[in-house]
Amino acid sequence: MLHLTAVDITKTKTASLVIPVCEDKDIHENTTISALVKKAKKIKEFTGDKGDEVTFYHLKEIKADRVVFLGLGKLEKIDMESLREMAGKATKEMIRKKLPAALIAVPSAHKIELEMPFVLEALLEGAFLANHLFDKYKKKKKYTPLKKINFLVKPDEAKKYKGLSSRVAAICHGTILAREWVNTPPNDKKPERLTRSMITRAKKENLKVTVLDEKKLKQKKFGALLAVAAGSQSKPRMVVLEFNPKKAEKTVVLVGKGVTFDSGGINLKPSASLADMKSDMSGAAAVAATLIAAAKLKPTFKIIGVIPVVENMPSGNAARPGDIIKSYNGKTVEIGNTDAEGRLILIDAISFALERYKPQILIDMATLTGACIVALGEKIAGVFSFDDELAESITQSGKKTHERCWRMPLPEDYKELFKSDLADLNNMANTRYGGAITAALFLAEFVTDTRWAHLDIAGPAFAKKESAYCGSGGTGFGVRLLCDLLDKF
Ligand code: BES
Ligand code: ZN
Ligand code: ZN
Repeated sequence: MLHLTAVDITKTKTASLVIPVCEDKDIHENTTISALVKKAKKIKEFTGDKGDEVTFYHLKEIKADRVVFLGLGKLEKIDMESLREMAGKATKEMIRKKLPAALIAVPSAHKIELEMPFVLEALLEGAFLANHLFDKYKKKKKYTPLKKINFLVKPDEAKKYKGLSSRVAAICHGTILAREWVNTPPNDKKPERLTRSMITRAKKENLKVTVLDEKKLKQKKFGALLAVAAGSQSKPRMVVLEFNPKKAEKTVVLVGKGVTFDSGGINLKPSASLADMKSDMSGAAAVAATLIAAAKLKPTFKIIGVIPVVENMPSGNAARPGDIIKSYNGKTVEIGNTDAEGRLILIDAISFALERYKPQILIDMATLTGACIVALGEKIAGVFSFDDELAESITQSGKKTHERCWRMPLPEDYKELFKSDLADLNNMANTRYGGAITAALFLAEFVTDTRWAHLDIAGPAFAKKESAYCGSGGTGFGVRLLCDLLDKF
């Protein structure tokens, strides 16, 4: 669907050409395009300011039915994210106009002071990600995604960066897969069904798949995970996806929180907080989708996705506040609050992963706390790690992919806050302050000498409003970030 092309626009017929325009500099090398930009800028209301847009039809200079000029703003403001947004906006515009394809003119990397691979990566990502509609549940489909998005480059560049589009497509396909899983309503993704969908997709990419069903989970004593699942009619699952290249020397484990619906359990959430709790499996979705993307990118080390999937519901069988359960690694936990369920399923998944796979690195991703949204807002994830280098790598990857992360502290003395009189730990801290930190420290109690990082994605995993290259709902946050990060190991 994404293609780099070096056609001559004065000779080849094109239905729709998109030209990004900088407010204070000519950013194109193609002289025809530069001339067209000059012409567009003669119109008073179009200056190239960010968000500006004007469309010309049947220009005599070139063989395009229409040319859409999109403003990028001032040169100093142009970066990978503004390129993603512009390409996303262009794609959405074409979808709205019910056109089947677009040709986007790639600006000169040199002129916008970026490197060409990054320019292309950003443009391709923005276009690919914006070309997704979640209309499965609508009888009548209003729009169709574009069939082709072409990028106009110089002939040598088309050859040189040929491999780039398949890499971007593999990764962004993962992001979209994660979005689709998150957007799926909770009645259609109860644990058995969601895991079946993940397994089908994973098998297509030749990942090794292991599933622990309820019987196995009971046999192996996943006490914390089973306590969360107890209230639901739907049985829990633990899915393990393995990418196992030959001669691998390193193992990275990714763990993702998979709560298909978080009602809070017996500590039932108030109505307003129940909305969107179908998104409480966003960590699981990101991890499964990353494994599927990684299977296409083929790194040289092992990547294991460990994905606990449960539904948190109240019922006569549900775990109660006050219950004490024994987790997979033997530590006991008093359930202070059934709504702090994420950390319960994660500790069993983490303990199992450490024992079974002995990884060099373990990263977990979870919509873990409302407190993290209070701390960092809806667009930034919290990163928790004792490992400075790992935390920095994650933050840097987030900067690049614009899945922003901010490192949070793990103060030793806060561990006091979730002590239990009766059990080894309480899943609920005795203060409502610093909830994202105490949750992370709780997880840390189950990590033994392995480089570990926890990402609390409660904010950025789900968006109420659509943005330049994402519809409303699941954002697929974390897939591009993890793929970029894995590239560094
Ligand atoms: N799934 C929620 C966290 C969440 C909140 C995610 C809002 C996305 C948006 C989690 O299971 C939860 O309920 N956490 C509680 C913990 C508390 C009971 C200690 C919270 O954050 O309030
Ligand atoms: Zn909860
Ligand atoms: Zn939850």
